[in-house]
Amino acid sequence: MQLRTIHILFFISFLFLLFYSCKKKESANDIQCGNMGWTNDSITYSKTISTIMLKNCIRCHSNSIKKGWVDLEGYDRVKKYADNHKLLGTIAHLQGFKAMPRGAAMVSQEDICRIKFWIDNGAQNN
Ligand code: HEC
Repeated sequence: MQLRTIHILFFISFLFLLFYSCKKKESANDIQCGNMGWTNDSITYSKTISTIMLKNCIRCHSNSIKKGWVDLEGYDRVKKYADNHKLLGTIAHLQGFKAMPRGAAMVSQEDICRIKFWIDNGAQNN
């Protein structure tokens, strides 16, 4: 094979890799949640979201542990990850995000939908 052909082949594989590494991330719209009849009173930060965090995330993401420098204890800190899409992305195992909880079973679809509902309604401190 000529050197020129080899160069071209390398260039094509490079473009191919570039294309695959830039594949679009999934978004919250890819999470399927039916209408569960929830309201802003039934799904709140203090009753619902903090409980899901406590059960699944706080053992690695508390004020004192902070795995990966992520702290999910307290409204302000959870809100930050709701706003940057990483809360839903990691918990729903969306493509392009790190799957959480690390090393444990995925959180139930219903709890994922509760978080989505809370975020869709403005991620309030309620
Ligand atoms: C067993 C420990 C453990 C548990 C439980 C856990 N995480 Fe993590 N999490 C980690 C580690 C370690 C990292 C850093 C990972 C890395 O950088 O590769 C991390 C990183 C993250 C990040 C940052 C990802 C990024 O791309 O910057 C978010 C957001 C996150 N976790 C959310 C959660 C949520 C939400 C839960 C609960 C559903 C959870 N984690 C449960 C260990 C854990």
